[in-house]
Amino acid sequence: TVLVVDFGAQYAQLIARRVREARIYSEVVPSTMPVAEILAKKPKAVILSGGPSSVYAEDAPSLDGSLFEAGVPVLGLCYGFQLMAQSLGGSVANTGSREYGRTDLNVSKPGSTLFEGTPSRQQVWMSHGDACSEAPAGFTVTASTDMVPVAAFENDERRLYGVQYHPEVMHTTHGQQVLEHFLYRGAGLAPTWTTESIVDEQVEAIRRQVGSKRAICGLSGGVDSAVAAALVHKAIGTQLTCVYVDHGLMRKGETEQVEKDFVAATGVQLKVVDASERFLSALAGATDPEQKRKIIGREFIRVFEQAQAELVAEAGAAGEDVAFLVQGTLYPDVVESGGGTGAANIKSHHNVGGLPEDLEFELVEPLRQLFKDEVRMVGQELGLPEEIVQRQPFPGPGLGIRIIGEVTRERLDLLREADVIAREELTAAGLDREIWQCPVVLLGDVRSVGVQGDGRTYGHPVVLRPVSSEDAMTADWSRLPYDVLARISTRITNEVSGVNRVALDITSKPPGTIEWE
Ligand code: XMP
Repeated sequence: TVLVVDFGAQYAQLIARRVREARIYSEVVPSTMPVAEILAKKPKAVILSGGPSSVYAEDAPSLDGSLFEAGVPVLGLCYGFQLMAQSLGGSVANTGSREYGRTDLNVSKPGSTLFEGTPSRQQVWMSHGDACSEAPAGFTVTASTDMVPVAAFENDERRLYGVQYHPEVMHTTHGQQVLEHFLYRGAGLAPTWTTESIVDEQVEAIRRQVGSKRAICGLSGGVDSAVAAALVHKAIGTQLTCVYVDHGLMRKGETEQVEKDFVAATGVQLKVVDASERFLSALAGATDPEQKRKIIGREFIRVFEQAQAELVAEAGAAGEDVAFLVQGTLYPDVVESGGGTGAANIKSHHNVGGLPEDLEFELVEPLRQLFKDEVRMVGQELGLPEEIVQRQPFPGPGLGIRIIGEVTRERLDLLREADVIAREELTAAGLDREIWQCPVVLLGDVRSVGVQGDGRTYGHPVVLRPVSSEDAMTADWSRLPYDVLARISTRITNEVSGVNRVALDITSKPPGTIEWE
């Protein structure tokens, strides 16, 4: 494991991802973790992240210099570089020479461990106020910029390295190469962490954990639960049963994808509960978004628990014990809940598929170490269909929160037809990878006048909400080509009777959220 010590910048997770792209397993730990605890994890190397602070700021996070005496290879980045310089006896000064953004780096030792094979002048991404003016004794300065004399230093004997810039961001043209030089050449690590090795490792861990007992997994139609289920199935086969609650709020074809394609690809045992009537009648009359979310969440848990209880009883009758529940928790959730920074409750998310509080099962979470793109790669490795593995995010409450106003069967049918047209055209235009997701929203309580054929219509508008995003925390509206928008609009108004207008949402997030409710 390579540990990335997080000094509070948003870059730590990105650094961990870059290390993993170099096929070496990496985790983030907080900078408040004592060095003894860091070393107890037996890291093969440590990377100190950047941070928002100046080493001279009052509450600046500090570093216990004993880390550098432990014989573990260390790479300091940005703030981590300055901490390293200061702690090892170099000097860091507030020179007033702020550098921010794209900067030219001059490599003075082209054959060095970090820079070998990279150009003598390369673009890097800088973001700092203080600067290292003198490298610690025993260190070789290997790069500088026009503003700072010490932009990188190396000590091969002690296997300690640092750069002032951010090699992890894409604006640093040779960043990945420099990171890999540190990992492979500096720390002597080999790129052995592959999708195949993740699968093998997890399969073994799941077998060890579950033993001969049984496990249950709720499928939502999303990537995470599908990959988690496929992994657990690979490990324990028929000891796993999946439950799919069909709440009737899925998009066209999605329930069939779970019931047929997923089962065909994995051979998993699946219990489908068709609860669409129950959800529709519970939603009757509800128009407030939070109320709708709560109803869907509540019903979901009830139905799921009932299915669970039935499975437990059946197993019990056969002399078996259901002791495990599979969850598709991902690494960013783990880091975030460990960080303890509670985000404001903007919408009651995670209410669907959310866990009941009095849990009598032990959790199996085979994706706890993985980022989303790694989950997709594992899904691919496991042979899951492309439509499931590459699926864009879709909210748990489904189309229930994409119909403004009351959710009825007629409105759901209208929206499903409009939505599938938008999806088809976006896919045909090759835009799936560019777009994070494109909700189609039916304004159920709004009607407008139109003219179609020779007649007047009085129908509902739908809104297209294509967004681009990295993580759904922020998003920008996608600048879709006009001809694609035109095709979607023409097809929806021609093919979906009851919809006579198509509008485009051009709001970024913030201020708008991605979903309308
Ligand atoms: P918002 O609308 O808050 O959405 O900008 C951010 C991302 O979260 C998805 N979303 C949900 N996902 N359960 C989920 O699992 C939910 O209740 C839920 N609500 C929104 C949304 O599609 C977007 O990707």
